[in-house]
Amino acid sequence: MKDVYDAIPKVELHCHVEGTIRPSTVAELAKKNGRALPVGNVEDLYRYDSLNGFLEIFWFVQEMLADQGDWERIAYESIVDAVPHGLRYRETFFTPARHLRAGQDLGGIVDGLTRGLEAAEAETGVGSMLICDMDRAYGGAAGLELVDRLVELRKAGRAARVIGVGMDSTELGVDLHDYVPAYELARSARLRCTAHAGEDTGPLNIWTAVEVLKVERIDHGLSILEDAELTKRASAERIALTVCPNSNVVIANKVETLSAHPFRRMREAGLLATLNTDDPAMTDLDLGKEYRTVAEALDLSLQDMAAVALDGVEATWLEDAGKRDLRARFLAELEPVLSA
Ligand code: ADE
Ligand code: ZN
Repeated sequence: MKDVYDAIPKVELHCHVEGTIRPSTVAELAKKNGRALPVGNVEDLYRYDSLNGFLEIFWFVQEMLADQGDWERIAYESIVDAVPHGLRYRETFFTPARHLRAGQDLGGIVDGLTRGLEAAEAETGVGSMLICDMDRAYGGAAGLELVDRLVELRKAGRAARVIGVGMDSTELGVDLHDYVPAYELARSARLRCTAHAGEDTGPLNIWTAVEVLKVERIDHGLSILEDAELTKRASAERIALTVCPNSNVVIANKVETLSAHPFRRMREAGLLATLNTDDPAMTDLDLGKEYRTVAEALDLSLQDMAAVALDGVEATWLEDAGKRDLRARFLAELEPVLSA
């Protein structure tokens, strides 16, 4: 019988496509592209004691992506691997700074990802869109250049699946104000805006992302409860948090155990806190496991987890009609799960 947590229909709003690459695909891409792996078993690389330590490995894995076909393959696999665990819709990050610096073309990357997502959608019926992330290790000027190129592509009708921009990578020693021009340009081009913030730092970065960069969602937002006023504001304005509890334990090492994670308290404070995997293939995770482990660690009922899944729909960047349709579908799928 299907696992009850896999059976809950889910959206995912915080998942890096490069963090979904199957270890076997990493090994095959390395071989194809003439890259040596320092270990026989890729998963032996996946041990972290800090976010920056994780990023070293994430960047290494990113470097295995050499051409459009590689992007297509990982986009396709990222969806077909997640559907058995309940994925019904995803807004997926990709972070191309490293590849652009190495001479790849943004248009080619987006075309490859789009083809992979289209093939997966044709096969599974699960739709997905893209969020182009700026890599903070490359600075604000590179971020602006990236958004500028993205806007050009969209004007040329080549990036219809890219619906928003975000930023990820290191948080330490980065001044988020450097990204004001990039976010202003994105907003003026009607791109949606989000940002990783408060994952490795206190709530000030979350404030800055909301107040100064004017983002609509916060990725992680782990430290938000440290600031009561910010918590009140984010709850009142339904600013979505794309929370990744397992990642916060394993990747950022900011919470010792899942049972110490503030996810439940975030929801009790009225925050629109959603549940996501971040980099599932690099943390031995899937969406069903994320829901199951969080429910067990925080003593959340199946009904609570259904409410989390429905809040995910509200937090998407779908148009209102799309949200209504998806919510109706979720309610129909949830009915037998909750009455079993
Ligand atoms: N890139 C991939 N995963 C990330 C995370 N958890 N934080 C920042 N950048 C990332
Ligand atoms: Zn992330």
